[in-house]
Amino acid sequence: MAETILVTGGCGFIGTNFVRHMLERYDYTIVNLDKLTYAGNLENLEDVAGDGRYTFVRGDIASMADVEGVFERPIDIVVNFAAESHVDRSIMDPDAFIRTNINGTFNLLELARKKGVGRFVQVSTDEVYGSLGESGAFREDTPLSPNSPYSASKTAADILAMAYFKTYGMPVVITRCSNNYGPYQFPEKLIPLMITNALADKELPVYGDGLNVRDWIHVKDHCAAIDLVVHKGEEGNVYNIGASNERTNIDIVELVLDILGKPRSLIRYVTDRPGHDRRYAIDSGKITERLGYRPSVAFSEGMRGTVDWYVRNRGWWERIKTGAYLDYYEKMYGKR
Ligand code: NAD
Ligand code: TYD
Repeated sequence: MAETILVTGGCGFIGTNFVRHMLERYDYTIVNLDKLTYAGNLENLEDVAGDGRYTFVRGDIASMADVEGVFERPIDIVVNFAAESHVDRSIMDPDAFIRTNINGTFNLLELARKKGVGRFVQVSTDEVYGSLGESGAFREDTPLSPNSPYSASKTAADILAMAYFKTYGMPVVITRCSNNYGPYQFPEKLIPLMITNALADKELPVYGDGLNVRDWIHVKDHCAAIDLVVHKGEEGNVYNIGASNERTNIDIVELVLDILGKPRSLIRYVTDRPGHDRRYAIDSGKITERLGYRPSVAFSEGMRGTVDWYVRNRGWWERIKTGAYLDYYEKMYGKR
């Protein structure tokens, strides 16, 4: 029988792309455990809902009962995407980040240990390393130095996962990727927020001086790298994932406006994010050398494709940008 992969958070941005990536390439059975928070959207995987290899389970990783329920079926591999993922929300309201990102990961590790799961991939982030100066890049041995409640909670989960490897010999592997972009990203993150605001001729809020740097990777390349780690990653190892593509925020915002043919006058500089990390850059040398990873999406093409996706799927983001989203937007940007 084909092996079963438990994907948590499969209704979010990266999880959605990963479920599709795996169903297209392999014959695994995929169980998607997702709480359907504001960031989870069943519509994202509507087209695979009828696939006999795919099952959706609504549940909370921070609830031991929900996790026990999902583990009643045999699970061979866990890939844990489920998380509260937005830094600004973690600054406004950190509670859910501790619950989901720390307690939720703990519950999954516990059940995976009890059931003897064959592989546990913890999907983490480069933000656990903190902020860089003008030069250098994060390596796997860079000290962990998170600055936001989001990155602190992801760091706690990483340390816990690694402790399960060291103490119980659990087959844990951790990935730490840089900033993703691509289809299905919730329009609270920089790129989809700017695309959808520009499409609606709304202001584009740029924090501080707009010169913070992020290292961008297309979500397809991130999913392909996780695929490599699932199949070839060495237990007890961390793998950084990136595409060597550093950009300032203002460059990204201007690029979005240029692709859409919208005026620069839509840009509005606003009060900076507290504790705003200045620069991220990833050294992916280890995964490249050991697992043969190579990013395949060039940034200019990836950005054009992404902008095009939001143009073609206007209904998808217009349905999101209503109700609770508008309350969030007002709270975050109203008096900024
Ligand atoms: P997302 O916010 O788009 O999706 C998160 C998903 O998790 C949603 O479907 C949500 O409903 C689900 N979820 C949240 N809390 C849950 C809970 N308690 N139980 C079950 N499901 C829950 O996030 P994303 O951008 O797809 O990120 C996925 C993972 O990748 C996260 O762990 C994040 O830390 C990591 N990551 C993201 C990026 C990025 O640029 N987006 C970069 C590196 C790493
Ligand atoms: P974001 O997409 O939230 O990712 P992260 O903070 O996890 O890197 O933000 C990316 C960068 O864009 C970050 O430096 C903050 C900045 N930013 C803005 O300038 N304006 C915005 O409205 C948002 C959401 C982000």
